Amino acid sequence: MKLLKTIAASVSITLASVTSVLAAPIEIKFSHVVAENTPKGKMATKFKELVEQRLSGKVVVKVFPNAQLFGDDKVLEAMLLGDVQLAAPALSKIKKYNKQVQVFDLPFLFDDMAAIDRFQQGPEGKKLLKSLEKRGLVGLGYLHNGFKQLSASSPLKTPADAKGKKFRIMASDVLVEQFRAVSANPVKKPFAEVFTLLQTKAIDGQENTWSNMYSKKFYEVQPYITESNHGVLDYVVLSSKEFWLSLPADIRPTVEKALQEAIVYGNQVALTKGQEDKQAIIASKRSQVVTLTPEERQQWVDAMKPVWKKFEAELGKDLIQAAISANQ
Ligand code: LMR
Repeated sequence: MKLLKTIAASVSITLASVTSVLAAPIEIKFSHVVAENTPKGKMATKFKELVEQRLSGKVVVKVFPNAQLFGDDKVLEAMLLGDVQLAAPALSKIKKYNKQVQVFDLPFLFDDMAAIDRFQQGPEGKKLLKSLEKRGLVGLGYLHNGFKQLSASSPLKTPADAKGKKFRIMASDVLVEQFRAVSANPVKKPFAEVFTLLQTKAIDGQENTWSNMYSKKFYEVQPYITESNHGVLDYVVLSSKEFWLSLPADIRPTVEKALQEAIVYGNQVALTKGQEDKQAIIASKRSQVVTLTPEERQQWVDAMKPVWKKFEAELGKDLIQAAISANQ
């Protein structure tokens, strides 16, 4: 009798643990720093929808926008520790994992989004993604935001207007040199701090895309935005190799397909959102959009382009050439 009871008890414990394993869905935490109403925010929401529709009960996706879970500087360390499973940091923030990604920060490098696409989808772009694997990260794809504009407390028409001003930048050494090239003072700060830094006038300006400036209300505390299109802000969607390869064989292809579809969707959003948000900023009348004449824009190009040469050795001449060639 005692033996029967013991067997019954152990069978029920085993069943209970099997049930709980079966019942526990895989959790994917997706951490990012921007608002939901941006190309990256919308891409993350789309990914969640697609995964939970197709893998209902097996995988749950929790999206944490606005640096709620991790900020710029911590997210990849957290990923390698298994505390977050997906992120899409700006390419300007991952030089610690491969310095060459800073090629995307070279000012006035790409003519348009199509050129960026060609470079990212070409052999060099693919190699850059793959290179992150030796640092324990899987590069799952590139995601667009768009071209950056310059905002400031006074109008910036020519490089001389930037002299002595303090600009917040992302953590990229190329961006440091870009602002030094116009005699300005760059300060590396996390995205989550930018609004307050601008509001309190701790800094004079910053560079960002229309969608980031609109969704984070930078235009309410920056009276001038120069439409410079001087550089690109794009992302790399990352997971840790350890987590990604641990996904069961019957789950991973579906998650991966959903992610690729979400990236395509995010890229479509990026194509239109920038112009919509620019119009919304103009309509708000809180910030004046400064349009450069071709001659004024050329002055910025002439001042900033020498930065390319400074990074030739670090980034590789061939890599820079491949990016230039993508303009066709
Ligand atoms: C920034 O820090 O300005 C951007 O990288 C934020 C983002 O993720 O778009």
